[in-house]
Amino acid sequence: MPASQPPAPKIAPSILSADFAKLGEEVRAIDAAGADWIHVDVMDNHFVPNLTIGPMVVKALRPHSAKPFDVHLMVSPADALVEAFAEAGADILSVHPEAGPHLHRTLMRIGALGKKAGVVLNPATPIGAVEPVIDMVDLLLVMSVNPGFGGQAFIESALPRIAALRQLIDRTGRDIELEVDGGVDPGNAGRLVAAGATVLVAGTAGFRGGPAAYADNIARLKAARPEMPA
Ligand code: DX5
Ligand code: ZN
Repeated sequence: MPASQPPAPKIAPSILSADFAKLGEEVRAIDAAGADWIHVDVMDNHFVPNLTIGPMVVKALRPHSAKPFDVHLMVSPADALVEAFAEAGADILSVHPEAGPHLHRTLMRIGALGKKAGVVLNPATPIGAVEPVIDMVDLLLVMSVNPGFGGQAFIESALPRIAALRQLIDRTGRDIELEVDGGVDPGNAGRLVAAGATVLVAGTAGFRGGPAAYADNIARLKAARPEMPA
């Protein structure tokens, strides 16, 4: 393996693609299969056109895994729910700058709750939106689909955006995770990591094939290389 090979990414399977009729079982299975984080997609039918998971579900799932719960808030406004999800057991709370008028205040609130704070950039959100708050974040989440649904096609323009954010992060000298969300699969995972991503969300690619396939799904994403065909 060449010395320049970046480290294998963390994999954050999105339970949006799990069987909702047995979520506890699904979280245990994906944890045992090697998931690094559990990605929870929270949608409110207002910021995005879908309705999914509330704090009570996160609280119910918390005993099923010791892995970090990576909670992606697609809700507007986000501030009141930040506290509810923190109490429910979230470890990382990520918000979209467009979800409320006071991103700085929201990030302060997440930090004050003792949780890791993330900012999510939609495909059309300027990268500069994160610059004024970069010193407050533990994670940047790049959307490679428009948020709202699992199973959408990967948007290629996310790649140069990941590379630009990698440069921005490196200039801070801080250990900020760079996560990619939407349409990630073994065909693009290697290129995402080469561009500077450290965490890959995998909904469809994490849960496809049912529990017997989860370990292989995760291993294939971790082992992906840039030259792999889409
Ligand atoms: C989309 C969500 C994603 C989604 C990813 O709004 O934020 O996390 O579950 O699903 P796939 O991997 O199927 O694109
Ligand atoms: Zn997500």
